[in-house]
This record gives sequence, structure tokens and C-alpha cells, in this order.
Amino acid sequence: MNRYDRRKFIRDTALAGIGISLLQPASLFASMRKDRVRIGMIAVGLRGQSHLANLLRRNDVDIIAMADPDKDMMAMAQRHVTKAGKKAPIEYTNGPYDYKNLLKRDDIDAVIICSPWEWHIPQGIDAMKAGKIVGMEVCGAQTLQDCYDIVSTYEKTKVPVMIMENVCYRRDIMAVHHMVKQGMFGEILHLQGGYQHDLRGVLFGNGKDNNSLDFGEKGFSEAKWRTNQYLHRNGDNYPTHGLGPVGTMIDLNRGNRLTHLSSVSTKARGLHRYIVKKGGENHPNAKVKFDQGDIVTTSIQCANGETIVLSLDTCSPRPYNLGFRVQGTNGIWQEFGSGGLDTGHIYLEDVSPDDRWENTKDYLTKNDHPLWARYATDAQGAGHGGMDFFVDNAFIESIKRNVEFPLDVYDLATWYAIRPLSEKSIQENGQVQAIPDFTKGAWKTRKPIFGVSDEF
Ligand SMILES: NC(=O)c1ccc[n+]([C@@H]2O[C@H](COP(=O)([O-])OP(=O)(O)OC[C@H]3O[C@@H](n4cnc5c(N)ncnc54)[C@H](O)[C@@H]3O)[C@@H](O)[C@H]2O)c1
Repeated sequence: MNRYDRRKFIRDTALAGIGISLLQPASLFASMRKDRVRIGMIAVGLRGQSHLANLLRRNDVDIIAMADPDKDMMAMAQRHVTKAGKKAPIEYTNGPYDYKNLLKRDDIDAVIICSPWEWHIPQGIDAMKAGKIVGMEVCGAQTLQDCYDIVSTYEKTKVPVMIMENVCYRRDIMAVHHMVKQGMFGEILHLQGGYQHDLRGVLFGNGKDNNSLDFGEKGFSEAKWRTNQYLHRNGDNYPTHGLGPVGTMIDLNRGNRLTHLSSVSTKARGLHRYIVKKGGENHPNAKVKFDQGDIVTTSIQCANGETIVLSLDTCSPRPYNLGFRVQGTNGIWQEFGSGGLDTGHIYLEDVSPDDRWENTKDYLTKNDHPLWARYATDAQGAGHGGMDFFVDNAFIESIKRNVEFPLDVYDLATWYAIRPLSEKSIQENGQVQAIPDFTKGAWKTRKPIFGVSDEF
């Protein structure tokens, strides 16, 4: 465990374990400990199928039922099940509300929701009301009210929700998280992250013809719904991949919180340019006007004095890179790749050669997070370089052990809230917006859970 004192780690882990059980809300799940978890999948498009594939590799999960109105996606999902040699889940394909019939089943413990963004909160709330634990895929909220609603439903029902933010579990990020917790960067001052991913090929296409610029009803997968979100809105529509990972490093909602933000946006050029380049000026979609600015920059203030800058950059030609930076009083890390241990720069005062960046490989290898060190083999083959194994594992293990999720409903509400607040700020020329404290003051006493042990 290198520079980190293993005994201290085990002691802290044990204390965190005690904290977890003491903090557990008096929920209707309080008396449950499980060996197996029975899952219902709500939406089995491409992301739902990748969770499904991970869960099918486990011997402690039964996939009981799946709801998705798209019969082709359902058939693709069933093929994963057949390939894994498991029993075919019951299908709910009768329109967009058939998931409600899945929720009526009494043989399901939890649902994983991987639907288009506008469905996340209504489906999450319906699931909680039906007593089904929720694993929720990532996005930004449609409205700020959605964030209040999911929190208040949790507080009424006490049905736990986990925000399934896989990037929190990326190997380089967890190593940096581990270094932050050891104090190697000193006191943290500033963090950056974002969603910097050229999505043009995802936002257009019918899944059959490479030249297709279809979106909406004729689109395939995310082109069917995500592109519509770029038409009449302008804000950081995907804040969680950037905010989640850096947020856990500074204990958001567990000793710290976001207080204010201000957002600005560039003009919208990329999607129109892509249509004209591929389809010519006379292509019918060349007339479509997109309001979503190509690059949205959001500056955030935290209660404990840190600042965060988030960047949304999905409409321009660029290699994938989420642009993480963590800077403290003692040093700085910046990455330029997609999670490789060697695709970053680091500088630590009194350790690195004066005024010179070092490659991260040795630092991140030496400081591999104990969770990764333990489960790297199990994670092999799971999506996004293995990090998807960890997010699904955390969901299932927390349910089995009846402990709090490491990323919970308050994280979901806080991270999702960035979208509507950034939209309002942009409309008001960068006017500062207060970020609600969804924990109602409990952030001061809640203890960190994410990354405190090598358990999950
Ligand atoms: N964490 C990650 O790395 C990651 C990666 C990709 C997507 N995502 C997120 O996952 C979610 C799904 O994205 P995707 O790529 O799978 O999109 P997709 O379009 O491939 O799948 C969405 C599915 O939802 C289904 N659906 C639509 N309305 C529904 C309803 N009312 N009830 C049930 N199903 C419904 C669609 O038929 C489709 O099969 C989004 O929130 C997206 O942002 C996350």
C-alpha cells in the first residue's frame, strides 16, 4: 500500500463501516440482508445493455424483467441473456408507460434506469413509490424542481437511490482520489472536469446508413432523443461525468457543498457545420437551428473554499478527454487522455524536478486505489476500461449488505441541478445562481463513503 499506512487504511475503513451502519436511514429495507439481488431493467438501449452484460456475469443477480418500448432493443438485450445462458427476463414492451407494470411485480428488489433523460426522474420516483431500490444512469435534470422532487420522494419513502456515475470509478481518477485523501496534493484548491466528447456521430444517424443525418423519430439510439435536447436549450446538459469524480475528492454533501455557479456559452456552430459538411447545404436538416452552444463553461464555488470549472464540449471535432485537473497547495494533476495511468501530467512540490511536469504513470501505479488493486481482474472486459464493473458492483454490494450507497440521492440532485442552473445563468449573461443544499444542512455531519475502503 506504499506511502499510505495500511493499518491506518484498515482502521479508517472499519470506522467508516461503523459510520455506514449508524447512518443507515430507518428504511423499509433495514432488516434486509441478501445473498442475491433481483433486478428489473428500465430501458435496455445501448447503455442498459452494457449494465445488463455486466450483471449477467455475476452469480448474485437475477434479471427478472425488462421494460423498453423498442422491440429491437429488447431483442438485442435478450440476446445478451441467451449468450450468458440465463433465463429470459419477462418483457414489458407495450409503450412508454409499460415500465409501471414491471414496477408492480413483487419479485423485484431494484431497478436500473437507463432511459432518455426526460424519463429519469418520473421513472425514479415511480420506482421509489413502488418500493424498488433505484440505480439511475447519469445526465442533467430537465428542471430544478425534478431535483427537489426526487429528494422529497426519497425522504418520504426512504427507498435508496444510487446515481450510477461510472467515471468516479475510473482507475486514474481513483488513484488521484487516493492521493488526495493521503494529502499528497496538500489542501485542495481547484478542480476541473467535464464532458469533452465529440458526439456528432452519436447525435445523428439511423443505425443503418453511415451517411444518415437523421435524428428524432428516425434516429437510432441516442440520435432518437438526445439531439432534441440540443434544439431549444443551452446549458451544461451532462454535468455528472466531470463533477462526480472531483466532487467525491472534496467530499461534496459530506462535509462540503456547492454554493454558487456561473455559466457562459459559446455560439452554436458544430452541429449545423457537421450536417452541411456531410449532407450539403440543401440537406433538410441544414435548416434546423440548434440553441445548444458548442462549449459551455461553468464556474462553481464550494463552501470550503474550493473552485470547480466544468466544461461541456460535445459538438466539435476533438479527441475524447474529460479534462480533469486537481490542484492543491502542494501540487497539481492534469490528464489529457481517456483514463490511462500514463496519460497525465503531475507536479508535486519538493518531489518533482523544479518547474517540470512528470508523467503520471509511476505515481498512479504506486497509488492505485485499494479497490482497483483488489478487483482489477474482475473488472477486465467490463465497459469503459473496467470502471463499469465497479459502479455495478457498488450498486449490488450495497443492496446485499444493506448499507448506504456511496453516491446517493443527494449527489444525484446536486449534480443534476447543474443543468437547469447553468441554463438560467447563461440566459442571464452569466449571472451567479445559488445552488440549493438538498441535504438541508446535513452535509455538515454526513461522512464520506465513496472510496473509503477496498470493499466496493
Ligand atoms: N455512464 C455512461 O458512461 C453512459 C454511457 C451512455 C449513455 N449513458 C446514459 O444512459 C442513458 C441511456 O442512454 P443510451 O445510450 O442507452 O440510449 P439509447 O437510446 O440507446 O437507449 C435508451 C432506451 O430507452 C428506451 N426508452 C425510451 N423511453 C422509454 C420508457 N418510457 N420506458 C422504458 N424505456 C424507454 C428506448 O427505447 C431505448 O431503448 C442516458 O441517460 C445516457 O445519458 C451513460
